[in-house]
Amino acid sequence: MTASFKKILITGGAGFIGSNFVRYILRQPAEKGRRPSVINLDKLTYSGNPENLRDAERDPRYKFVKGDICDKRLVAKLIKGCDAVINFAAESHVDRSIKYPDEFLKTNVFGTQVLLDCARTHKIKRFIQISTDEVYGSIEKGTFNENSTVAPNSPYAASKAAADLLARSYFITYGLPVIITRSSNNFGPYQYPEKIMPLFITNALYDRKLPVYADGKNVREWIYVLDNCEAINYVLRHGKNGEVYNIGSGNEMKNIDLTLKILDILGKERSLIEFVKDRPGHDKRYALDNRKIIRLGWKRKYRFEDALKATVLWYKENVKWWKRLKERKEEKFW
Ligand SMILES: NC(=O)c1ccc[n+]([C@@H]2O[C@H](COP(=O)([O-])OP(=O)(O)OC[C@H]3O[C@@H](n4cnc5c(N)ncnc54)[C@H](O)[C@@H]3O)[C@@H](O)[C@H]2O)c1
Repeated sequence: MTASFKKILITGGAGFIGSNFVRYILRQPAEKGRRPSVINLDKLTYSGNPENLRDAERDPRYKFVKGDICDKRLVAKLIKGCDAVINFAAESHVDRSIKYPDEFLKTNVFGTQVLLDCARTHKIKRFIQISTDEVYGSIEKGTFNENSTVAPNSPYAASKAAADLLARSYFITYGLPVIITRSSNNFGPYQYPEKIMPLFITNALYDRKLPVYADGKNVREWIYVLDNCEAINYVLRHGKNGEVYNIGSGNEMKNIDLTLKILDILGKERSLIEFVKDRPGHDKRYALDNRKIIRLGWKRKYRFEDALKATVLWYKENVKWWKRLKERKEEKFW
């Protein structure tokens, strides 16, 4: 069955994945003569940036609201007339969660509960909770499937796992049509330059050191952000209520190999690499079994090497976008 929606409440749409998703969904062709409108509710924390969606502001189907997902009155007001909610809003940086876990619990757990509750009251037709592979913890060999044990290792991952469990409970207890997506590491344009990929690209462009944790042998699975956007839209329209869908690419890479690729694309020296003290509780390897979403009908479109080159080029050509963020006077987590 294919579902279509007339008005979607998207939270955290001014961040990295959310802004790519808002742009993506506004560009989708009409279905049954209908193209959905979007409300983007975002608190504009350090990682939320209205610049990410300047182009969308001209679209009459797009509305931005600055606000907090923990604000129940505001959420209840905005959700009226919406038939779907997609919750991207989160505190998302593991290193920050190690130093300041409180904010992670507030937004990622309590904020999600507020959204779920308002969605229940307003009889939302579909609620997509955007989660992460990090809820499964680390795996030496093999892959995690959707039935694997949830065993988060950082306060960030624990807060996301708690939100997943709450979402599940709203499906079981109240019959709220919830679907959870758990994707691997995303990369692409508009990612805040504290995360490894934009951090390393922008540092290399400045000829600054690239701080690689420990021996650089930690493995991550990389998915291009537009592949994830397509997968989320696919699940929104075709997914089954109450289910979890892993969104992986199968493209595993050691952090050091990723670093070398970035340096090679930019023609920079390997001497820029600096091995630094490991992050506490650093997960060794993430890897997802993505057969369930493939069976549903989604297929990855982008080749890793091409998407990586396009991403590096985007940061090279959009210095104005990240320079200001990098030079902000605030506590740095890189
Ligand atoms: N980036 C990844 O590789 C990745 C992988 C898997 C899952 N995820 C999940 O995807 C989602 C988006 O991640 P991202 O990388 O785009 O993060 P991001 O940090 O770039 O964006 C988060 C957005 O949420 C907003 N926000 C934070 N607290 C809020 C609040 N209380 N109310 C309203 N808005 C608030 C921020 O202003 C920001 O715009 C998160 O839920 C994250 O856990 C990310």
